[in-house]
Amino acid sequence: KVSNEAILYVNGVRRLLSDGLAHFTLLEYLRDIGLTGTKLGCGEGGCGACTVMVSQYDRILKKCSHYAINACLAPLYSVEGMHVITVEGLGSCKRGLHPVQESLARAHGSQCGFCTPGFVMSMYALLRSSQTPPSEEQIEECLAGNLCRCTGYRPIFDAFRVFAKTSNDLYTGVSSLSLEEGKSVCPSTGKPCSCNLSNTNDKCVGGDNGYEPTSYNEIDGTKYTERELIFPPELLLR
Ligand code: FES
Ligand code: FES
Repeated sequence: KVSNEAILYVNGVRRLLSDGLAHFTLLEYLRDIGLTGTKLGCGEGGCGACTVMVSQYDRILKKCSHYAINACLAPLYSVEGMHVITVEGLGSCKRGLHPVQESLARAHGSQCGFCTPGFVMSMYALLRSSQTPPSEEQIEECLAGNLCRCTGYRPIFDAFRVFAKTSNDLYTGVSSLSLEEGKSVCPSTGKPCSCNLSNTNDKCVGGDNGYEPTSYNEIDGTKYTERELIFPPELLLR
């Protein structure tokens, strides 16, 4: 039976929208329910710190579409009946990082960290909505709405560029960090490399052996394919 209630799903959890929330933006709502990983930067769509992914079922195309949106601009009720995924829905140090988060951390793409959830969600939405691996140009384009005042962007692009080259194994941690055969993100430079450094304080000298990083995702041994958030079945009926 299809419910007439005003609902949305946030990170796989059903949420009933009670009366009196019509003036809330999605960002205010998310932070109000304790999901403070989504940041308030400019509050006017200019910085991308509030980026989240929303998923919606398209009855005509019979498939789910995924979009990165600025939660500071979206009225709460504009996402009614949709699935919202925030950075908390991807991963954490306790549960293990999502490969997008892990790659960014390894490449030193996060300094103060305020912009990081937004970058992660923009990249994640691109991967979820791409049938084939995105090109480097598409990755740069998808990050065009995210600002960072610390890193100079290069480590962020380098971190995410690895996803342009791999296709089948985005959610398996270590293997998702592999570029061409034998290459991965160098822990020293944060760039694709075939050195085998394990200490970020050492200087990269290049090398022929593939670097085998210890994945944060080995924390509980499960792969992301086993815990990726699915589209809530209830929303297929609405
Ligand atoms: Fe800057 Fe939303 S807070 S775009
Ligand atoms: Fe500080 Fe990006 S890491 S704003």
